[in-house]
Amino acid sequence: MSIVIKTEGLTFSYSEQEHNILDNLSMEVKKGEILAILGLSGSGKSTLCYCLSGIIPHVYSGKLSGEVRIDGHSTQEMDMTMIATKLGIVFQNPETQLFFPMVESELAFGPENLCIDRDEIKKRIDLTLDLLNIKEKRNEKTGHLSGGQKQLIALASVLTLKPKILIFDEVMSQIDEKGKNAIKDIILQLKKEGKTVIMVSHNLDNIDIADRIMTLKNGRLKRFEESL
Ligand SMILES: Nc1ncnc2c1ncn2[C@@H]1O[C@H](COP(=O)(O)OP(=O)(O)O)[C@@H](O)[C@H]1O
Ligand SMILES: [Mg+2]
Repeated sequence: MSIVIKTEGLTFSYSEQEHNILDNLSMEVKKGEILAILGLSGSGKSTLCYCLSGIIPHVYSGKLSGEVRIDGHSTQEMDMTMIATKLGIVFQNPETQLFFPMVESELAFGPENLCIDRDEIKKRIDLTLDLLNIKEKRNEKTGHLSGGQKQLIALASVLTLKPKILIFDEVMSQIDEKGKNAIKDIILQLKKEGKTVIMVSHNLDNIDIADRIMTLKNGRLKRFEESL
């Protein structure tokens, strides 16, 4: 099985902090798997997501050493636009991801930025809304949607970029049971399409769909079984 993300000796601390949030962390993510990363609040899960998605070092800075490779390329050597074509991240709070008043413009923004032509963008939006079962939301105002629906739009805005790898950072923590099950079904569907999914959680409830579970503690990842 091929490896889509590999980190080697990944070590990170935020600016003006001594403490390493990630400490010599090495991991591999296999193509097509659902990998769950479990850890207590404050254990560095989001920081790890930022490193895996290039947000660190391209957006947030700090002291970074070691390497993160996506498809064999170091994130330090790729720009965010190139990374966005390979990997998409959905944040815990959808408000941080949504910028436009209307759903359709939100979904078109990413591919427009990549200069993809209008017909293709329309096709991608149609397919994504269909996959997420939210076709009727196309012309709605984002601000009028519930938290769970906003989370789906945030996910949709990532999917229109057609990334092969998706990171979900605690996306289920603010939504009801029905919303959680909808997101789990979507993750399983994405896996069926051959995508790789990394899902981060602080409890076991939401990760029954994972192929593999790792726990993050003291800046390192361990197999879940070893952490019991
Ligand atoms: N932008 C930041 N600047 C400084 N410290 C931060 C920043 N973001 C997170 N931290 C600190 O890093 C640690 C890990 O945070 P985080 O990665 O958000 O953990 P988790 O997602 O597991 O809750 C925490 O102690 C947090 O206070
Ligand atoms: Mg977090």
